[in-house]
Amino acid sequence: MSQYSRPGLSRRSILAGSAGLALATALPRGARALVPALKEYRLNAAPAQVPLVGASRAETQVWAYHGQVPGPEIRVRQGERVRVLIENRLPEETTVHWHGVRVPNPMDGVPQLTQPPIGVGETFAYEFDCLDAGTFWYHPHQRSFAQAGRGLYGPFIVEENEPYPVDRDVTWMLGDWRLLKDGSISDDFGNLHDVSHAGRIGNTVTVNGLVREAFEVRAGERIRLRLINAANARIFGLTFEGHSPMVVALDGHPVEPHEPAGGQVVLGPAMRVDLVLDMTGRPGSRFKVVDSFYKGLEYQLLELSYTGEPLREVRATPVPRLPANPVREPDLSSARRHEVTLGGGMMGMMTGAMVHGDLMDIRSMLRQGLVWAINGVAATGHVHEPMATLAHGSSHVLAIANETAWWHPMHLHGHTFRVLSRNGVPTRYREWQDTVLIPPRERVEIGFAADNPGDWMFHCHVLEHQAGGMMGTIRVASA
Ligand code: C2O
Ligand code: CU
Repeated sequence: MSQYSRPGLSRRSILAGSAGLALATALPRGARALVPALKEYRLNAAPAQVPLVGASRAETQVWAYHGQVPGPEIRVRQGERVRVLIENRLPEETTVHWHGVRVPNPMDGVPQLTQPPIGVGETFAYEFDCLDAGTFWYHPHQRSFAQAGRGLYGPFIVEENEPYPVDRDVTWMLGDWRLLKDGSISDDFGNLHDVSHAGRIGNTVTVNGLVREAFEVRAGERIRLRLINAANARIFGLTFEGHSPMVVALDGHPVEPHEPAGGQVVLGPAMRVDLVLDMTGRPGSRFKVVDSFYKGLEYQLLELSYTGEPLREVRATPVPRLPANPVREPDLSSARRHEVTLGGGMMGMMTGAMVHGDLMDIRSMLRQGLVWAINGVAATGHVHEPMATLAHGSSHVLAIANETAWWHPMHLHGHTFRVLSRNGVPTRYREWQDTVLIPPRERVEIGFAADNPGDWMFHCHVLEHQAGGMMGTIRVASA
């Protein structure tokens, strides 16, 4: 059952810090149920210089939260309330979207649709309860293809109330950059080639903001590895040489622990995978972590490097299941079915689409940078006639057909859905996701309970595809 409590002074205990990143909460555990703690953060979004490729090379001019890429980790416990003050020191308007967090609509960070954009020099306070534990992230929703592409993103971690039994909890936020020889970011954001093909795929991949050689581990250690794909467009397919990662959560939500298909951990843009990795190697050994998603373009992300004394003898203890989140189960027997067709792109044979309510031919569309459509509508801006209006509390199945030659990670705001089937075959884990990666020509069915009122974006998270028209809005009527 989702309950969105309103800010109420009596329920809050504000423990704000001074300048910079402020975080605090010091309630005894027992008190938590009665008085939810409020954690406050202050982040500025501003230009910064960071050493993406390492200290020996020129620094890169980026846009960053609090001068760092990724931005500061926001870490709260499930049930806590968070307030984040965002100060915009960028040369343009911005917003922040809390990707995957089921926030009340006014906190969703979609410009015009849920709030006015945060003007240059202005501050905006986001505040919401963290209903679900898991791995989430934050990024702008204003010109996100350029703003996220310049480095504006950060991890948002909600801890379970009972600590999950691992030795280390590690986040790898994966970034992808298109750098020029001098180390600067190529500023060809949103060019028509990227928009009409696979999106802006870069030439430099970072883990937590750095090109890395190695990640140090100890023999016998059990690590929870939270992978977050913050790339505009790159899909990752990671293999861990000599190791057997177990997937325990997808997009933050628990899934029955299982080995990834073919040993490859696939993450489309915006997606998260939590792994449990048992460090079964010997001290002194090194193992490659390779991204082999794109055939012929494989590269080594980094190496796991065994250093120091073993932590313990490796024991094959089972990987426990994470406790379920309080997501409302869709009632599939009464669910309304909606056909959703993704069209357009190069080799997509689209001849035209509806733009602002009028049929437009593809040539005129191209002149406006529009290449993609959902159900024949190419959307611009963030405010749209809803694709569907759903009664509060009702259940829905979106049957999404990808009729294009490209992959699309489709993201729904404000809700978490079950991935029910692919090409008519029921999924094995009926995983909860907020972003579903759909290969070319595939059909996917997702189901969800429309329990969060408001207008919610439904869009491709290849940010260039979104900008090129692949988005829409789903309205959940108020209770
Ligand atoms: Cu991660 Cu609409 O966004
Ligand atoms: Cu797409």
